[in-house]
Amino acid sequence: MKKRHLLGLFLCASSVFAATAATPDAEIESKINALLAKMTLEEKIGQLNQQTGTGYSDDMVGSIRKGAVGSILNEVDPVIVNKLQHEAVENSRLGIPLIFARDVVHGFKTIFPIPLGQAASWNPALVEQGARIAAVEAASTGVRWTFSPMVDVSRDGRWGRIAESFGEDPYLASVLGVSMVKGYQTDDLSQPGTMAACTKHFAGYGASESGKDYNTTWIPEVLLRDMYLPPFEAAARAGSATFMCSFNDINGVPSSGNPHLNIDILRNEWGFDGVLVSDWASIMQMIPQGVCVDLKDAADRAANSGVDVDMESYAYTRHLKELVEEGKVEESTIDNLVRNVLRLKFRLGLFDNPYVDMATANNFYAPESLEAAKKMVEESTVMLKNNDILPLKNVKKIALVGPMADDKHNQAGTWCFDLEKEHCVTPLEALTEKYGKDAIIYAPGLKYSRDIDESGIADAVAAAREADVVVMVGGEEAVLSGEAHCRADISLPGAQTKMLEALKATGKPVVLIIMTGRPMTIVHETSLADAVLYMFHGGTMAGPAVAEMLAGEVSPSGKLPVSMPKMVGQLPLYYNHVNTGRPASGMVLIDEIPLEAPQTSTGCTSFYLDAGDGPAFPFGYGLSYSTFSYGDVKLSSASMARDGSIEVSCTVTNTGNMAAAETVQLYTRDLVASLSRPVKELKGFEKVYLQPGESRMVTFTLQASSLAFWSTPTTKVVEPGDFNLWVAGDSASGTPVKFSVTE
Ligand code: GLC
Repeated sequence: MKKRHLLGLFLCASSVFAATAATPDAEIESKINALLAKMTLEEKIGQLNQQTGTGYSDDMVGSIRKGAVGSILNEVDPVIVNKLQHEAVENSRLGIPLIFARDVVHGFKTIFPIPLGQAASWNPALVEQGARIAAVEAASTGVRWTFSPMVDVSRDGRWGRIAESFGEDPYLASVLGVSMVKGYQTDDLSQPGTMAACTKHFAGYGASESGKDYNTTWIPEVLLRDMYLPPFEAAARAGSATFMCSFNDINGVPSSGNPHLNIDILRNEWGFDGVLVSDWASIMQMIPQGVCVDLKDAADRAANSGVDVDMESYAYTRHLKELVEEGKVEESTIDNLVRNVLRLKFRLGLFDNPYVDMATANNFYAPESLEAAKKMVEESTVMLKNNDILPLKNVKKIALVGPMADDKHNQAGTWCFDLEKEHCVTPLEALTEKYGKDAIIYAPGLKYSRDIDESGIADAVAAAREADVVVMVGGEEAVLSGEAHCRADISLPGAQTKMLEALKATGKPVVLIIMTGRPMTIVHETSLADAVLYMFHGGTMAGPAVAEMLAGEVSPSGKLPVSMPKMVGQLPLYYNHVNTGRPASGMVLIDEIPLEAPQTSTGCTSFYLDAGDGPAFPFGYGLSYSTFSYGDVKLSSASMARDGSIEVSCTVTNTGNMAAAETVQLYTRDLVASLSRPVKELKGFEKVYLQPGESRMVTFTLQASSLAFWSTPTTKVVEPGDFNLWVAGDSASGTPVKFSVTE
């Protein structure tokens, strides 16, 4: 029984990622100060102004020559980049180079699965490799700043931006966010082929009320610190060069005007010395948010809240000078903002190498990049069901149907500004290549995911009747997720379900492949299909990955980074919830309730009459073409001190007849604490690749410090007491093993 201690071990903002933020470089700091001393107030303010690209326009050239622009987003033509950079370096008074920025979110030209898909891979090395590839491609056009990784913990599939996130768990988001930062930046940001990462959206954006984008959030600070800030802290300590404000307010305080978030926590607690950029016009948006009276007021609030760069509000460029003259914003405050921008430019090596090397410009689609993208699709595809019809065996005819079976644009997913869809390989193309034209009977049935015209379904049914197996590729068009693309109904759009029902009626086995940007409500569709491959928009190489998985050349090995709801009404839904005083039990469901049932006859616990409780598929879940067994969990000790650790081991065996990967997950539960604690929390994972019959002992070092939580907004504690832990293949499996933390 845990003894409650008010004086736990105070861990001052320790994190699982003990690395420190970027360390100041004395030489760079002296260069910054020397340059700052020469700058006029107008030139200082210019460095804080970020504008979207307009090509080599007179307006832009004029602004650059005046030193009125510090960075440009959305210019990706290296010829234009070099011409604009030439204006800054050669034709402005101080020759301060520009930074060129772009949303390179899951690839630049070689498009990887959307970040939610990459999260489903649970493969940090692959995520880092993908970011590395994206940086090399984007930097070859002059882009040296990406607005990625997005590490917003997301618990609501109605929110379109869940597609850009790493899902609902703070630990998984922390590990993968750091992987992306490392992939973009490497250890030397001054080298060509690198990009400054931009960890976003700081903070709490994933808690947008009702899953509606830009909506308000109400997050108690202890929850903010336990659930939403850890991935940001991890990225800051891993050296993310920049951060981006979020659009939302937290408890009524917009992030672009939140000094507690941006100065107390980001700068003072975490030691971040990079650039904090606003989101697109988010400074201006404090006016409709009702905390600023006009753009000048917004500039005042943002500058005094530590926002270094104004993206597209033009608040700084229009009002900071007069605010300084009026004494509302100290020039020393402006100097600090400018220091952060100049520091980034020095770290990027732009003063020494400001131009794109045209000899190596536009370096895209390297074979090894395409191979890595394909591997990521295979590792991120989650098999939800398989009535032993996968991999396909002895099939002569495949009926390939569905609106996403041959859709180059939509298989790429959201945030693909630089997509060249002709480079995308679709399932139709790849299956035709693998099985031969005569083996594939293609009949999409629907023209696009939202199509309600059922007239084409007959052709798909006819194809099914001629085939040995039906492969239906459905899901969501790319535009149905991403920024501002939220859905109050997260079922399959259009007539896809009707089409699936018609295909099922043929009696032929049906493989359902869903390409989507979110968790969806597919309980009925899953019941109809004989196998379900759930793919978060896979990008350029989705087709070849589908073909190799269906043919059994590789097993899908994705695990869900989000809980899959039975019904949209369950949202927000997440595995790491607290237990409540009446956890679901003795559920009487809506169709089982007798007529005139007495008030208390259906049980008084926490569940839905029409959905019961819990997800359709749990966080961390995913099947394989093989099977795995987990041995008994062994602990190096049954207890540890509050500053100690224990080794947790478990032997995992591939009990199937195919080489495959399994993501072994470690969860803990604090059984009794000064605050209600989640019923499970992910504390470690390892993806192991095992040959048939092969066993591997997987060992985790569980630090007591990783069990810490924020009991108040200012104290992070490890409380002594009893805990359970699990080592399993998903968040709903495994047998608990008890251990304790002592004084
Ligand atoms: C958008 C997004 C942000 C993106 C930025 C620049 O509104 O919120 O994620 O990086 O603007 O495109």
